[in-house]
Amino acid sequence: MKILIIGSGGREHALALACTKSQNVDQIFCIPGNAGTECIAKNINIDISEFDKIRKFVQENEVETVIVGPEQPLVDGIVDYLNQFNIKVFGPNQKASQLEGSKIFTKNLCKKYNIPTANFGIFKNIRESKKFIENCKFPIVIKADGLASGKGVYICKEKKEAEIACEEIFNGKFGKAENILIEEFLDGEEMSFFIISDGETFYHFGTAQDHKRVYEGDKGKNTGGMGAYSPSRLENKKLNKKIIEKIINPTLKGLNDLNTRFIGFLYAGLMIINDEPFLIEYNVRMGDPECQTIIPKLKTDFIELINACVNKKLKSIELEWHKDKSLCIVLCSIGYPDVYKKNIEIKNLDKINLENNEYIFHAGTKKINNKIVSNGGRVLNIVIRSENFKKNRDKAINLINKINWDNGFFRKDIGYKVIN
Ligand code: AMP
Ligand code: GLY
Repeated sequence: MKILIIGSGGREHALALACTKSQNVDQIFCIPGNAGTECIAKNINIDISEFDKIRKFVQENEVETVIVGPEQPLVDGIVDYLNQFNIKVFGPNQKASQLEGSKIFTKNLCKKYNIPTANFGIFKNIRESKKFIENCKFPIVIKADGLASGKGVYICKEKKEAEIACEEIFNGKFGKAENILIEEFLDGEEMSFFIISDGETFYHFGTAQDHKRVYEGDKGKNTGGMGAYSPSRLENKKLNKKIIEKIINPTLKGLNDLNTRFIGFLYAGLMIINDEPFLIEYNVRMGDPECQTIIPKLKTDFIELINACVNKKLKSIELEWHKDKSLCIVLCSIGYPDVYKKNIEIKNLDKINLENNEYIFHAGTKKINNKIVSNGGRVLNIVIRSENFKKNRDKAINLINKINWDNGFFRKDIGYKVIN
């Protein structure tokens, strides 16, 4: 069977590796992939926004199942488009993808179905927003409505900051803004909670904790994620039950009432306050780097699982996991998340011997003349699985020290809440 994975990050390399371990996979394609996926799959150079070219590729190459990694094509409707041609796709349709594509869609759903979330208001212009801010208790959180690659969120400690945030959003920093979301600041501990769904049945698909800030001690700017570990230290049966009853079930009912279903991975970004879950945001895909920590723990055949989802047979599958712990450190280009250099060679990657349960997933890398060079802000993901988080982190740092690349930096404190 032939599989196509759309995307080019560490998440997609981890998904591709999982496919190689499946019994029934003969060939994996990645659009566009990276230097890591090139070693286990065939990279195809098509822009992921060109749905017609992707469709032609799928038809000509008799791809059986398409797995979509990133949010943009999902929000843009790639699933609806490919489904029209009877192509099976693992990922949610455009209607369901609004859960990530529009923060206001999700907030309104929370309100209608009583899903616990931060109190909020939606405002249509700078004047209304500023008037509301006049009487707010700080800090408050201000968000642009649409996709903003994790950048459209401002945590404001005082009035002036809040006013600047409103001006930047309405002046189009994250695209045309018709609305703005202002919400209460939730003070707790974050947790990423995942499910996998075929539209009828869903299973819990693990938890993780990522470190979004660029510097140690969770300081500095937000990034796509500097590292992660799984499971979250907060996870327990009682909390899982509350999350499913108070957040996941009413969300799926809400989609059902809109005459749609969710197929794919759903990622709930939660704030846990005194053992109670609050929804911060939804993502309609696996997290990156959370995926790189969760997928290596999966024992069940990955493609059997994905195919069960696209054929509405998830009920027939038993999910099995390795019970140990995993941790990922992201090696980034100096300067990320701002300006950084590209095309810097990463030497002797091929000389690094990985033991069982050690992985190097590529993100922003490409191959030029048989050399691997950096091609993005987040470049490599070093993942270790064992019975102990500290051992994982020590081993990951050890591996990073063997990589000969003089343009990299990483956080040495990933997992500090579960290690110290
Ligand atoms: P989002 O893109 O909505 O996940 O927001 C990015 C980050 O901002 C989250 O991971 C949180 O750390 C933080 N954040 C967002 N909304 C809130 C909130 N209401 N209270 C506290 N922190 C928040
Ligand atoms: N790690 C955060 C995300 O994937 O959105």
